[in-house]
Amino acid sequence: MSRAAVSRAAVVIGAARGIGAATTRLLAETGWSVLAVDRGSDDPRLPYALGSVRMLEELATEAGSPAHPVVARVADTCDEAGLVGAIGEAEDRFGGVDAVITTAGVIAGGVPIWEMPAAQVEAVLDVDLGGVVVAARVGIPALLRRPEPRSGRFLAVSSTAASRGLPMLAAYGAAKAGVAGLVRGLAAELRGTGITANSVSPGSTATPILDESARLYGLDAASAFAGQHAIERLIRPEEVAAALVWLAGPAGAAITGIDLPVDGGLAL
Ligand SMILES: NC(=O)c1ccc[n+]([C@@H]2O[C@H](COP(=O)([O-])OP(=O)(O)OC[C@H]3O[C@@H](n4cnc5c(N)ncnc54)[C@H](O)[C@@H]3O)[C@@H](O)[C@H]2O)c1
Repeated sequence: MSRAAVSRAAVVIGAARGIGAATTRLLAETGWSVLAVDRGSDDPRLPYALGSVRMLEELATEAGSPAHPVVARVADTCDEAGLVGAIGEAEDRFGGVDAVITTAGVIAGGVPIWEMPAAQVEAVLDVDLGGVVVAARVGIPALLRRPEPRSGRFLAVSSTAASRGLPMLAAYGAAKAGVAGLVRGLAAELRGTGITANSVSPGSTATPILDESARLYGLDAASAFAGQHAIERLIRPEEVAAALVWLAGPAGAAITGIDLPVDGGLAL
């Protein structure tokens, strides 16, 4: 895709690092303007570090250009009022929003769900499902504010954990299965609007959340997950980003209501 191929505006939520940062970079490289959103602070309910404001600001500086800016914005995807402000800023700066891509997510588990601290179960369900619902409730009205004919995209990240029974990750799997169900329902609700809704389900992707998964399973390193894939290596965040950006572009126009595995054959 050439840099001049598209000139559109996206909001990426969960952008400070990992798959969201890779998606932001690829969008900016392929002609999109991006509002890059992240909570930029740790979640006190969880024992591992999340993305920081500094990471988000460095991403904006490195990935943006005068023609296709990347603007950093701190907001929590579970905070509806905060997200309304962020989406409003994107509309003010870019004249509208063509894609809302939510990659924000957290993980917890490592024990059966009945042994998890209640606050961790709540964090996983709040962020991994509730946060996507908020992103849809706030983001889709902005996509609908674009004049017809529209080509808006709502994209979320589910997980292989949605379709396989992964032990010690039941809360995470429940939230991610909810995301796949949500986009199917959204696709039906968006019938005739020109806007599509889809999710992508990564396998084990080399980002900090996978390091936390390895810790939850008592593994020395996340590289131990590579053998689960038919491709016998971890997935790179850029490979998940490529699927999201492809779905966001013109090639994705006829695809709606699906959950696309980017899992290196994990589900085989
Ligand atoms: N890495 C994998 O192996 C893998 C596999 C399947 C699915 N996923 C999903 O992919 C998505 C991206 O994860 P990643 O691998 O890049 O992990 P990551 O931990 O590197 O990035 C997640 C980002 O989301 C942000 N975030 C967390 N809670 C937030 C909130 N309430 N509001 C706004 N931002 C918030 C974090 O600060 C962080 O920057 C997540 O939804 C994750 O569940 C990842």
